[in-house]
Amino acid sequence: MEANVEKKPIVFSAVQPSGLPTIGNYIGALKNWVNMQDEFDCIYAVADLHAITVRQEPAKLRANSMQMMALLLACGIDPDKCVLFMQSHVSAHSELAWLLNTITYIGELSRMTQFKDKSRKHESNINVGLLDYPVLMAADILLYQAEYIPVGKDQTQHLELARDLAERFNNAYSPTFTVPKGYIPKTGGRIMSLQDPMHKMSKSDDANAFIGMLDTPDEIARKIKRAVTDSVGVINYCPEQPGVSNLLDIYAAFGDETPEQAAAAFEGKGYGELKAALTERLVEVLTPIRENCTRYMGDKAYLQSVMKKGEDAAAAMAYRTLAKVRRKMGFI
Ligand code: TRP
Repeated sequence: MEANVEKKPIVFSAVQPSGLPTIGNYIGALKNWVNMQDEFDCIYAVADLHAITVRQEPAKLRANSMQMMALLLACGIDPDKCVLFMQSHVSAHSELAWLLNTITYIGELSRMTQFKDKSRKHESNINVGLLDYPVLMAADILLYQAEYIPVGKDQTQHLELARDLAERFNNAYSPTFTVPKGYIPKTGGRIMSLQDPMHKMSKSDDANAFIGMLDTPDEIARKIKRAVTDSVGVINYCPEQPGVSNLLDIYAAFGDETPEQAAAAFEGKGYGELKAALTERLVEVLTPIRENCTRYMGDKAYLQSVMKKGEDAAAAMAYRTLAKVRRKMGFI
């Protein structure tokens, strides 16, 4: 990062390397990461330590972590503008998580909606990490004195815990952590499933229900063609037409316009035309991302150098905070 006289607010966010993101993850998070790079001092991590709260095959975790790095670069995350690193490369994350564990109550962790959901889904592996995951996330955020955290709805409870822990520590010892705030991006809403527009698009659904960030033009065309619409036959942006409205949302988000503008542009046209235009737009945006991602994946040395640079920058900030915490807690 260049030396800057005027300090910009610090933003922290992270994404788990759990397989390829969908266009829903892109619109809901990654595209905003790219857009925030100029206005803020951004620190972005691939949260590999978070990924192991569900059992991972080591070779797969390695491949997914590399691929996520490559994808972030391909989407436009610029390692010269922000700090981009692999969470596990900075051991301060694990260490601060342990220290914060001692000021966190089991009750507040076991009440987390995501913990309850995941315990139900992974009944045979309700490990301590699954419960402790929000504390690690708080450590991620607090190490960098981050002011703004762009998070989706599913993470607001975890961000709330990070705020509580920051305040609890500051009160118990002395002011140490910046108390982070959620950041609601100006653009980018929720993208819904192509097969069931009442539910969020998810990569764990049937392949026809989502578009992956590396889907080929043929796959994109086929999935959009099969996307659920309705029998109204008129293009409106309204809750009564969730399928059509979702297609308008995607079309608008990929073209930096509002869904209302998109709806106006398709007035009097048929669903076929909307689907064709949407396919064309998705292919136009996703093709260079797919090609760049493939190129980065083929250049492991470059990926390693990006990660090393990110690690060095992140570690310098993180260990400064960790040293303060250790001192204040009484370690000699
Ligand atoms: N838990 C987040 C997710 O699954 C990823 C994450 C880890 C994160 N640490 C974070 C997000 C810190 C924001 C801030 O989406």
